[in-house]
Amino acid sequence: MLTNLKDQPADKILALMAAYREDPRDNKIDLGVGVYKDATGKTPVMRAVKAAEKKIWEEQDSKSYTGLAGDPAYGDAMVDLVLGSAVARGNVAAVATPGGTGAIRQGLELIKMAAPGATVWLSAPTWPNHPSIVKYLGMPMAEYRYLNDDTPTVNFDGMMEDLQGAKAGDVVLLHGCCHNPTGANLTLAQWAEVIALLQERELTPFVDIAYQGFGDGLEDDAAAVRMVASEVPECIIAASCSKNFGIYRERTGILMAISQDDALQGRAQANLAFLNRQNYSFPPDHGARIVATILNDADLKADWMAELEEIRQGMLGLREALAAELKRLSNSDRFEFLAQHRGMFSRLGATPEQVEKLRADHGIYMVGDSRLNIAGLNAQTIPVLAKAIIDCGI
Ligand code: LMR
Repeated sequence: MLTNLKDQPADKILALMAAYREDPRDNKIDLGVGVYKDATGKTPVMRAVKAAEKKIWEEQDSKSYTGLAGDPAYGDAMVDLVLGSAVARGNVAAVATPGGTGAIRQGLELIKMAAPGATVWLSAPTWPNHPSIVKYLGMPMAEYRYLNDDTPTVNFDGMMEDLQGAKAGDVVLLHGCCHNPTGANLTLAQWAEVIALLQERELTPFVDIAYQGFGDGLEDDAAAVRMVASEVPECIIAASCSKNFGIYRERTGILMAISQDDALQGRAQANLAFLNRQNYSFPPDHGARIVATILNDADLKADWMAELEEIRQGMLGLREALAAELKRLSNSDRFEFLAQHRGMFSRLGATPEQVEKLRADHGIYMVGDSRLNIAGLNAQTIPVLAKAIIDCGI
């Protein structure tokens, strides 16, 4: 049987992680996988996470099963964090999932159960695992333009034009904030136009929000998803705690299905629980418990928010410093977009050959589409990267 298996393509981002680890050069720079690093290159355990783990260790008296939806305290706290008061809690069905990827996978399966013929529209480009999972599930898929390659800013006209081609009942996957891989984001006015189009063409939004707090702040980053959830008849939301709580390996995410018709909440909730049961039964609890402990304790929450804000400000500072250094070296404003973009990523606009040259000649690792992780930089590596970018003719 196993001889029938085909080779699978390596995930480009994860393959890059492995290649970086194997590179013996001392001066190598990792701008690949989307993991936050501080100025010393470490991915720290956040202070509030450590404190919450200590509290859990002291107070937890059982590791018996929770419910299929996960701990209700986690669900409530996350619905509140992502949606605020945009939607009544009674309209939200929510289950804990293994990470944001688990939420995306379960969300797509829910769509497949409810609307088997629906085409899933993805931004071009998007996080490579989006099309990979859609394809794996055998769902119809289409792309909408997202980026002007030359500037690189959002190609809003192209996006709207392409979405006009969607049929009623199709699903549009949108990045709630900090678009991965481009770093270019819709303005709230543009979101309002997208929402009007979704309503007019009867399309269902599926919002992936994996970087809340990394762009313009916890509340501002949630503004678009809240607008969507409060204005369209139905939407699906996948949220991740990997980045904003720094608990990558704990696999902590949440999937929400929202309907303005509150009579549907019970059925949606039962279907989400059913999907959890089919795929892995109970979702992982440790990360979810950390998050709920932090969000339900005023002091821990304040400390978490303060540290998250330090991280966000640090990334903004790195963006500005890199844009300024490139302006100095190139005598042009063509890298100004780096300071305008938000979140962990930007795409440089380099060719695959130039990206390969950065790796081979300078030990600088970024994804082949020239996505770089801003958080992989520090004051010492910014001039090194900027010089290498110019040297490679980018
Ligand atoms: C990324 O885009 O680098 C992260 O979301 C990590 C991943 O799983 O790909």
